[in-house]
Amino acid sequence: MEAHTEAYEVVGIGFGPANLSLAIALEEQRGKGENPLTAAFFEKQPSLGWHRNMLLPDTKMQISFLKDLATFRNPASQWSFIAYLHAVGRLAQFVNNQDFFPTRNEFHDYLEWAESSFSDRVTYNSEVSAVHLPDGHPGDGAIDTVRVEVQDNAPRGGTRLVEARNLVISTGLVPKMPTGIDRGERVWHSSEFLGRFHTLDKSRIRRFAVVGAGQSAAEITRFVYDTVPHAEVYAIMPSYGYSIADDTPYANRIFDADAVDDYYGGTDRTRDAFWRYHRNTNYGVADDEVIRDLYQRAYDDEVARIKRLHLLNLSRVRTVAPTPEGAHLTMHSVRDDSAYALDVDAIVFATGYDSMDPTTLLGDLAPYCLRDDEGRLRVERDYRLVTTPDLNVGIYLQGGTEHTHGLASSLLSNIAIRSGEIADAIAIDLASRQHAKV
Ligand code: FDA
Ligand code: NAP
Repeated sequence: MEAHTEAYEVVGIGFGPANLSLAIALEEQRGKGENPLTAAFFEKQPSLGWHRNMLLPDTKMQISFLKDLATFRNPASQWSFIAYLHAVGRLAQFVNNQDFFPTRNEFHDYLEWAESSFSDRVTYNSEVSAVHLPDGHPGDGAIDTVRVEVQDNAPRGGTRLVEARNLVISTGLVPKMPTGIDRGERVWHSSEFLGRFHTLDKSRIRRFAVVGAGQSAAEITRFVYDTVPHAEVYAIMPSYGYSIADDTPYANRIFDADAVDDYYGGTDRTRDAFWRYHRNTNYGVADDEVIRDLYQRAYDDEVARIKRLHLLNLSRVRTVAPTPEGAHLTMHSVRDDSAYALDVDAIVFATGYDSMDPTTLLGDLAPYCLRDDEGRLRVERDYRLVTTPDLNVGIYLQGGTEHTHGLASSLLSNIAIRSGEIADAIAIDLASRQHAKV
């Protein structure tokens, strides 16, 4: 193991949109002449990749382009989506297109463009595997820094130790499979979809199943239907049909920055109301456009007297057994409480994600982080974990704060403002430490 020679005020774990947005916020702080904070980010992928395995052709963003990495905090930012459009010479064409929602491919291109300003601060192929206390701890006295252990994923890569005064953890959503079902050669989660799909010999695919009724399931079902024209596609879902993601103006206010205050400062009943009334803005729902596309395909099939898109509704997959050709599925139908079976060549579980939980990563630090009555991490309004008084290291979360900060925690909606709040909190903490030393 190499000696730790590097020390930073801020170490960011993961470099997706959230920590890229933080890199921008820190840079804009420096631009205002504030005390520059040294920062290093570690990302386990070989390059910036935003859900690459779901970059299906023509899929659209689910939020306005104005909810980019910076605009809501700083409308004059040089890293806004508009600045990107201007830089690549597409501003006029974008406006002519009159669409608030770019394709996911275009947004990915924007993220890569923004990232190119920060490549000196991010190390790829670098997975943070643990966080350690400094030498001599546990023991008496305050803990002012921690050591971050980084594994170099490149061939012959080693381990690096980096000292940090603040951690910003942003490792993203965790793919979720139904209990008891494992991934396999022909049994995938949607988060690995395109990578797996490209390795398939499509000529041998006759039956393809997609599980779930959310946006991922609807997009994958449409894509498979279109790209494997000889295949029968089975959409297995617990609901009666796909239902629409509510993005009407009043409901959309739950993603506003002000709603974070309402949620954070609210009572248990307030928070419960957010989830009870507005879960359908995001979970288990799909956009109008993809639902109508699917219905049109099914209808056209009816007209042509063929049936290629099969809706196995009111059903949940119970078991999956790998077969030489694919998988044998059993389903439970709530229609008549019956069980039925289906053999497929491949199946994708678009069954969603769990939110980020940093407990394992925190390792030695976890016992210093305080929890609420339900065992969840306590988090300050500025996204700093509440810790015992002897831990002076700031641990900030970008994600995994649904229980404290609400529904936007895992989304892009609020990242510009959230990153600014975290950058400000770290700068204020640094200034107060420097003041205390004088
Ligand atoms: P994100 O998951 O993007 O990034 C986390 C990064 O951390 C990854 O690059 C990962 O490799 C890295 N990492 C993980 N563990 C690590 C470790 N130990 N060490 C180093 N690196 C590590 N939301 C929205 O508001 N609008 C939208 O249109 C969409 N669209 C969308 C499409 C799809 C297919 C999905 C699955 C999700 C969305 N979302 C969304 C929600 C999504 O969470 C959001 O777009 C961002 O990805 C959140 O950014 P983060 O940086 O928090 O996570
Ligand atoms: P999701 O919204 O959580 O949907 C998961 C679906 O799987 C639900 O319908 C769920 O039903 C169902 N399910 C779970 N277990 C099942 C089982 N055993 N059998 C049958 N169905 C089962 O997940 P998602 O669609 O992946 O979306 C996750 C996030 O990514 C959302 O924020 C979404 O907006 C985003 N996303 C965005 C885009 C885009 O920007 N274009 C694309 C894809 C995803 P129950 O809820 O009843 O369990």
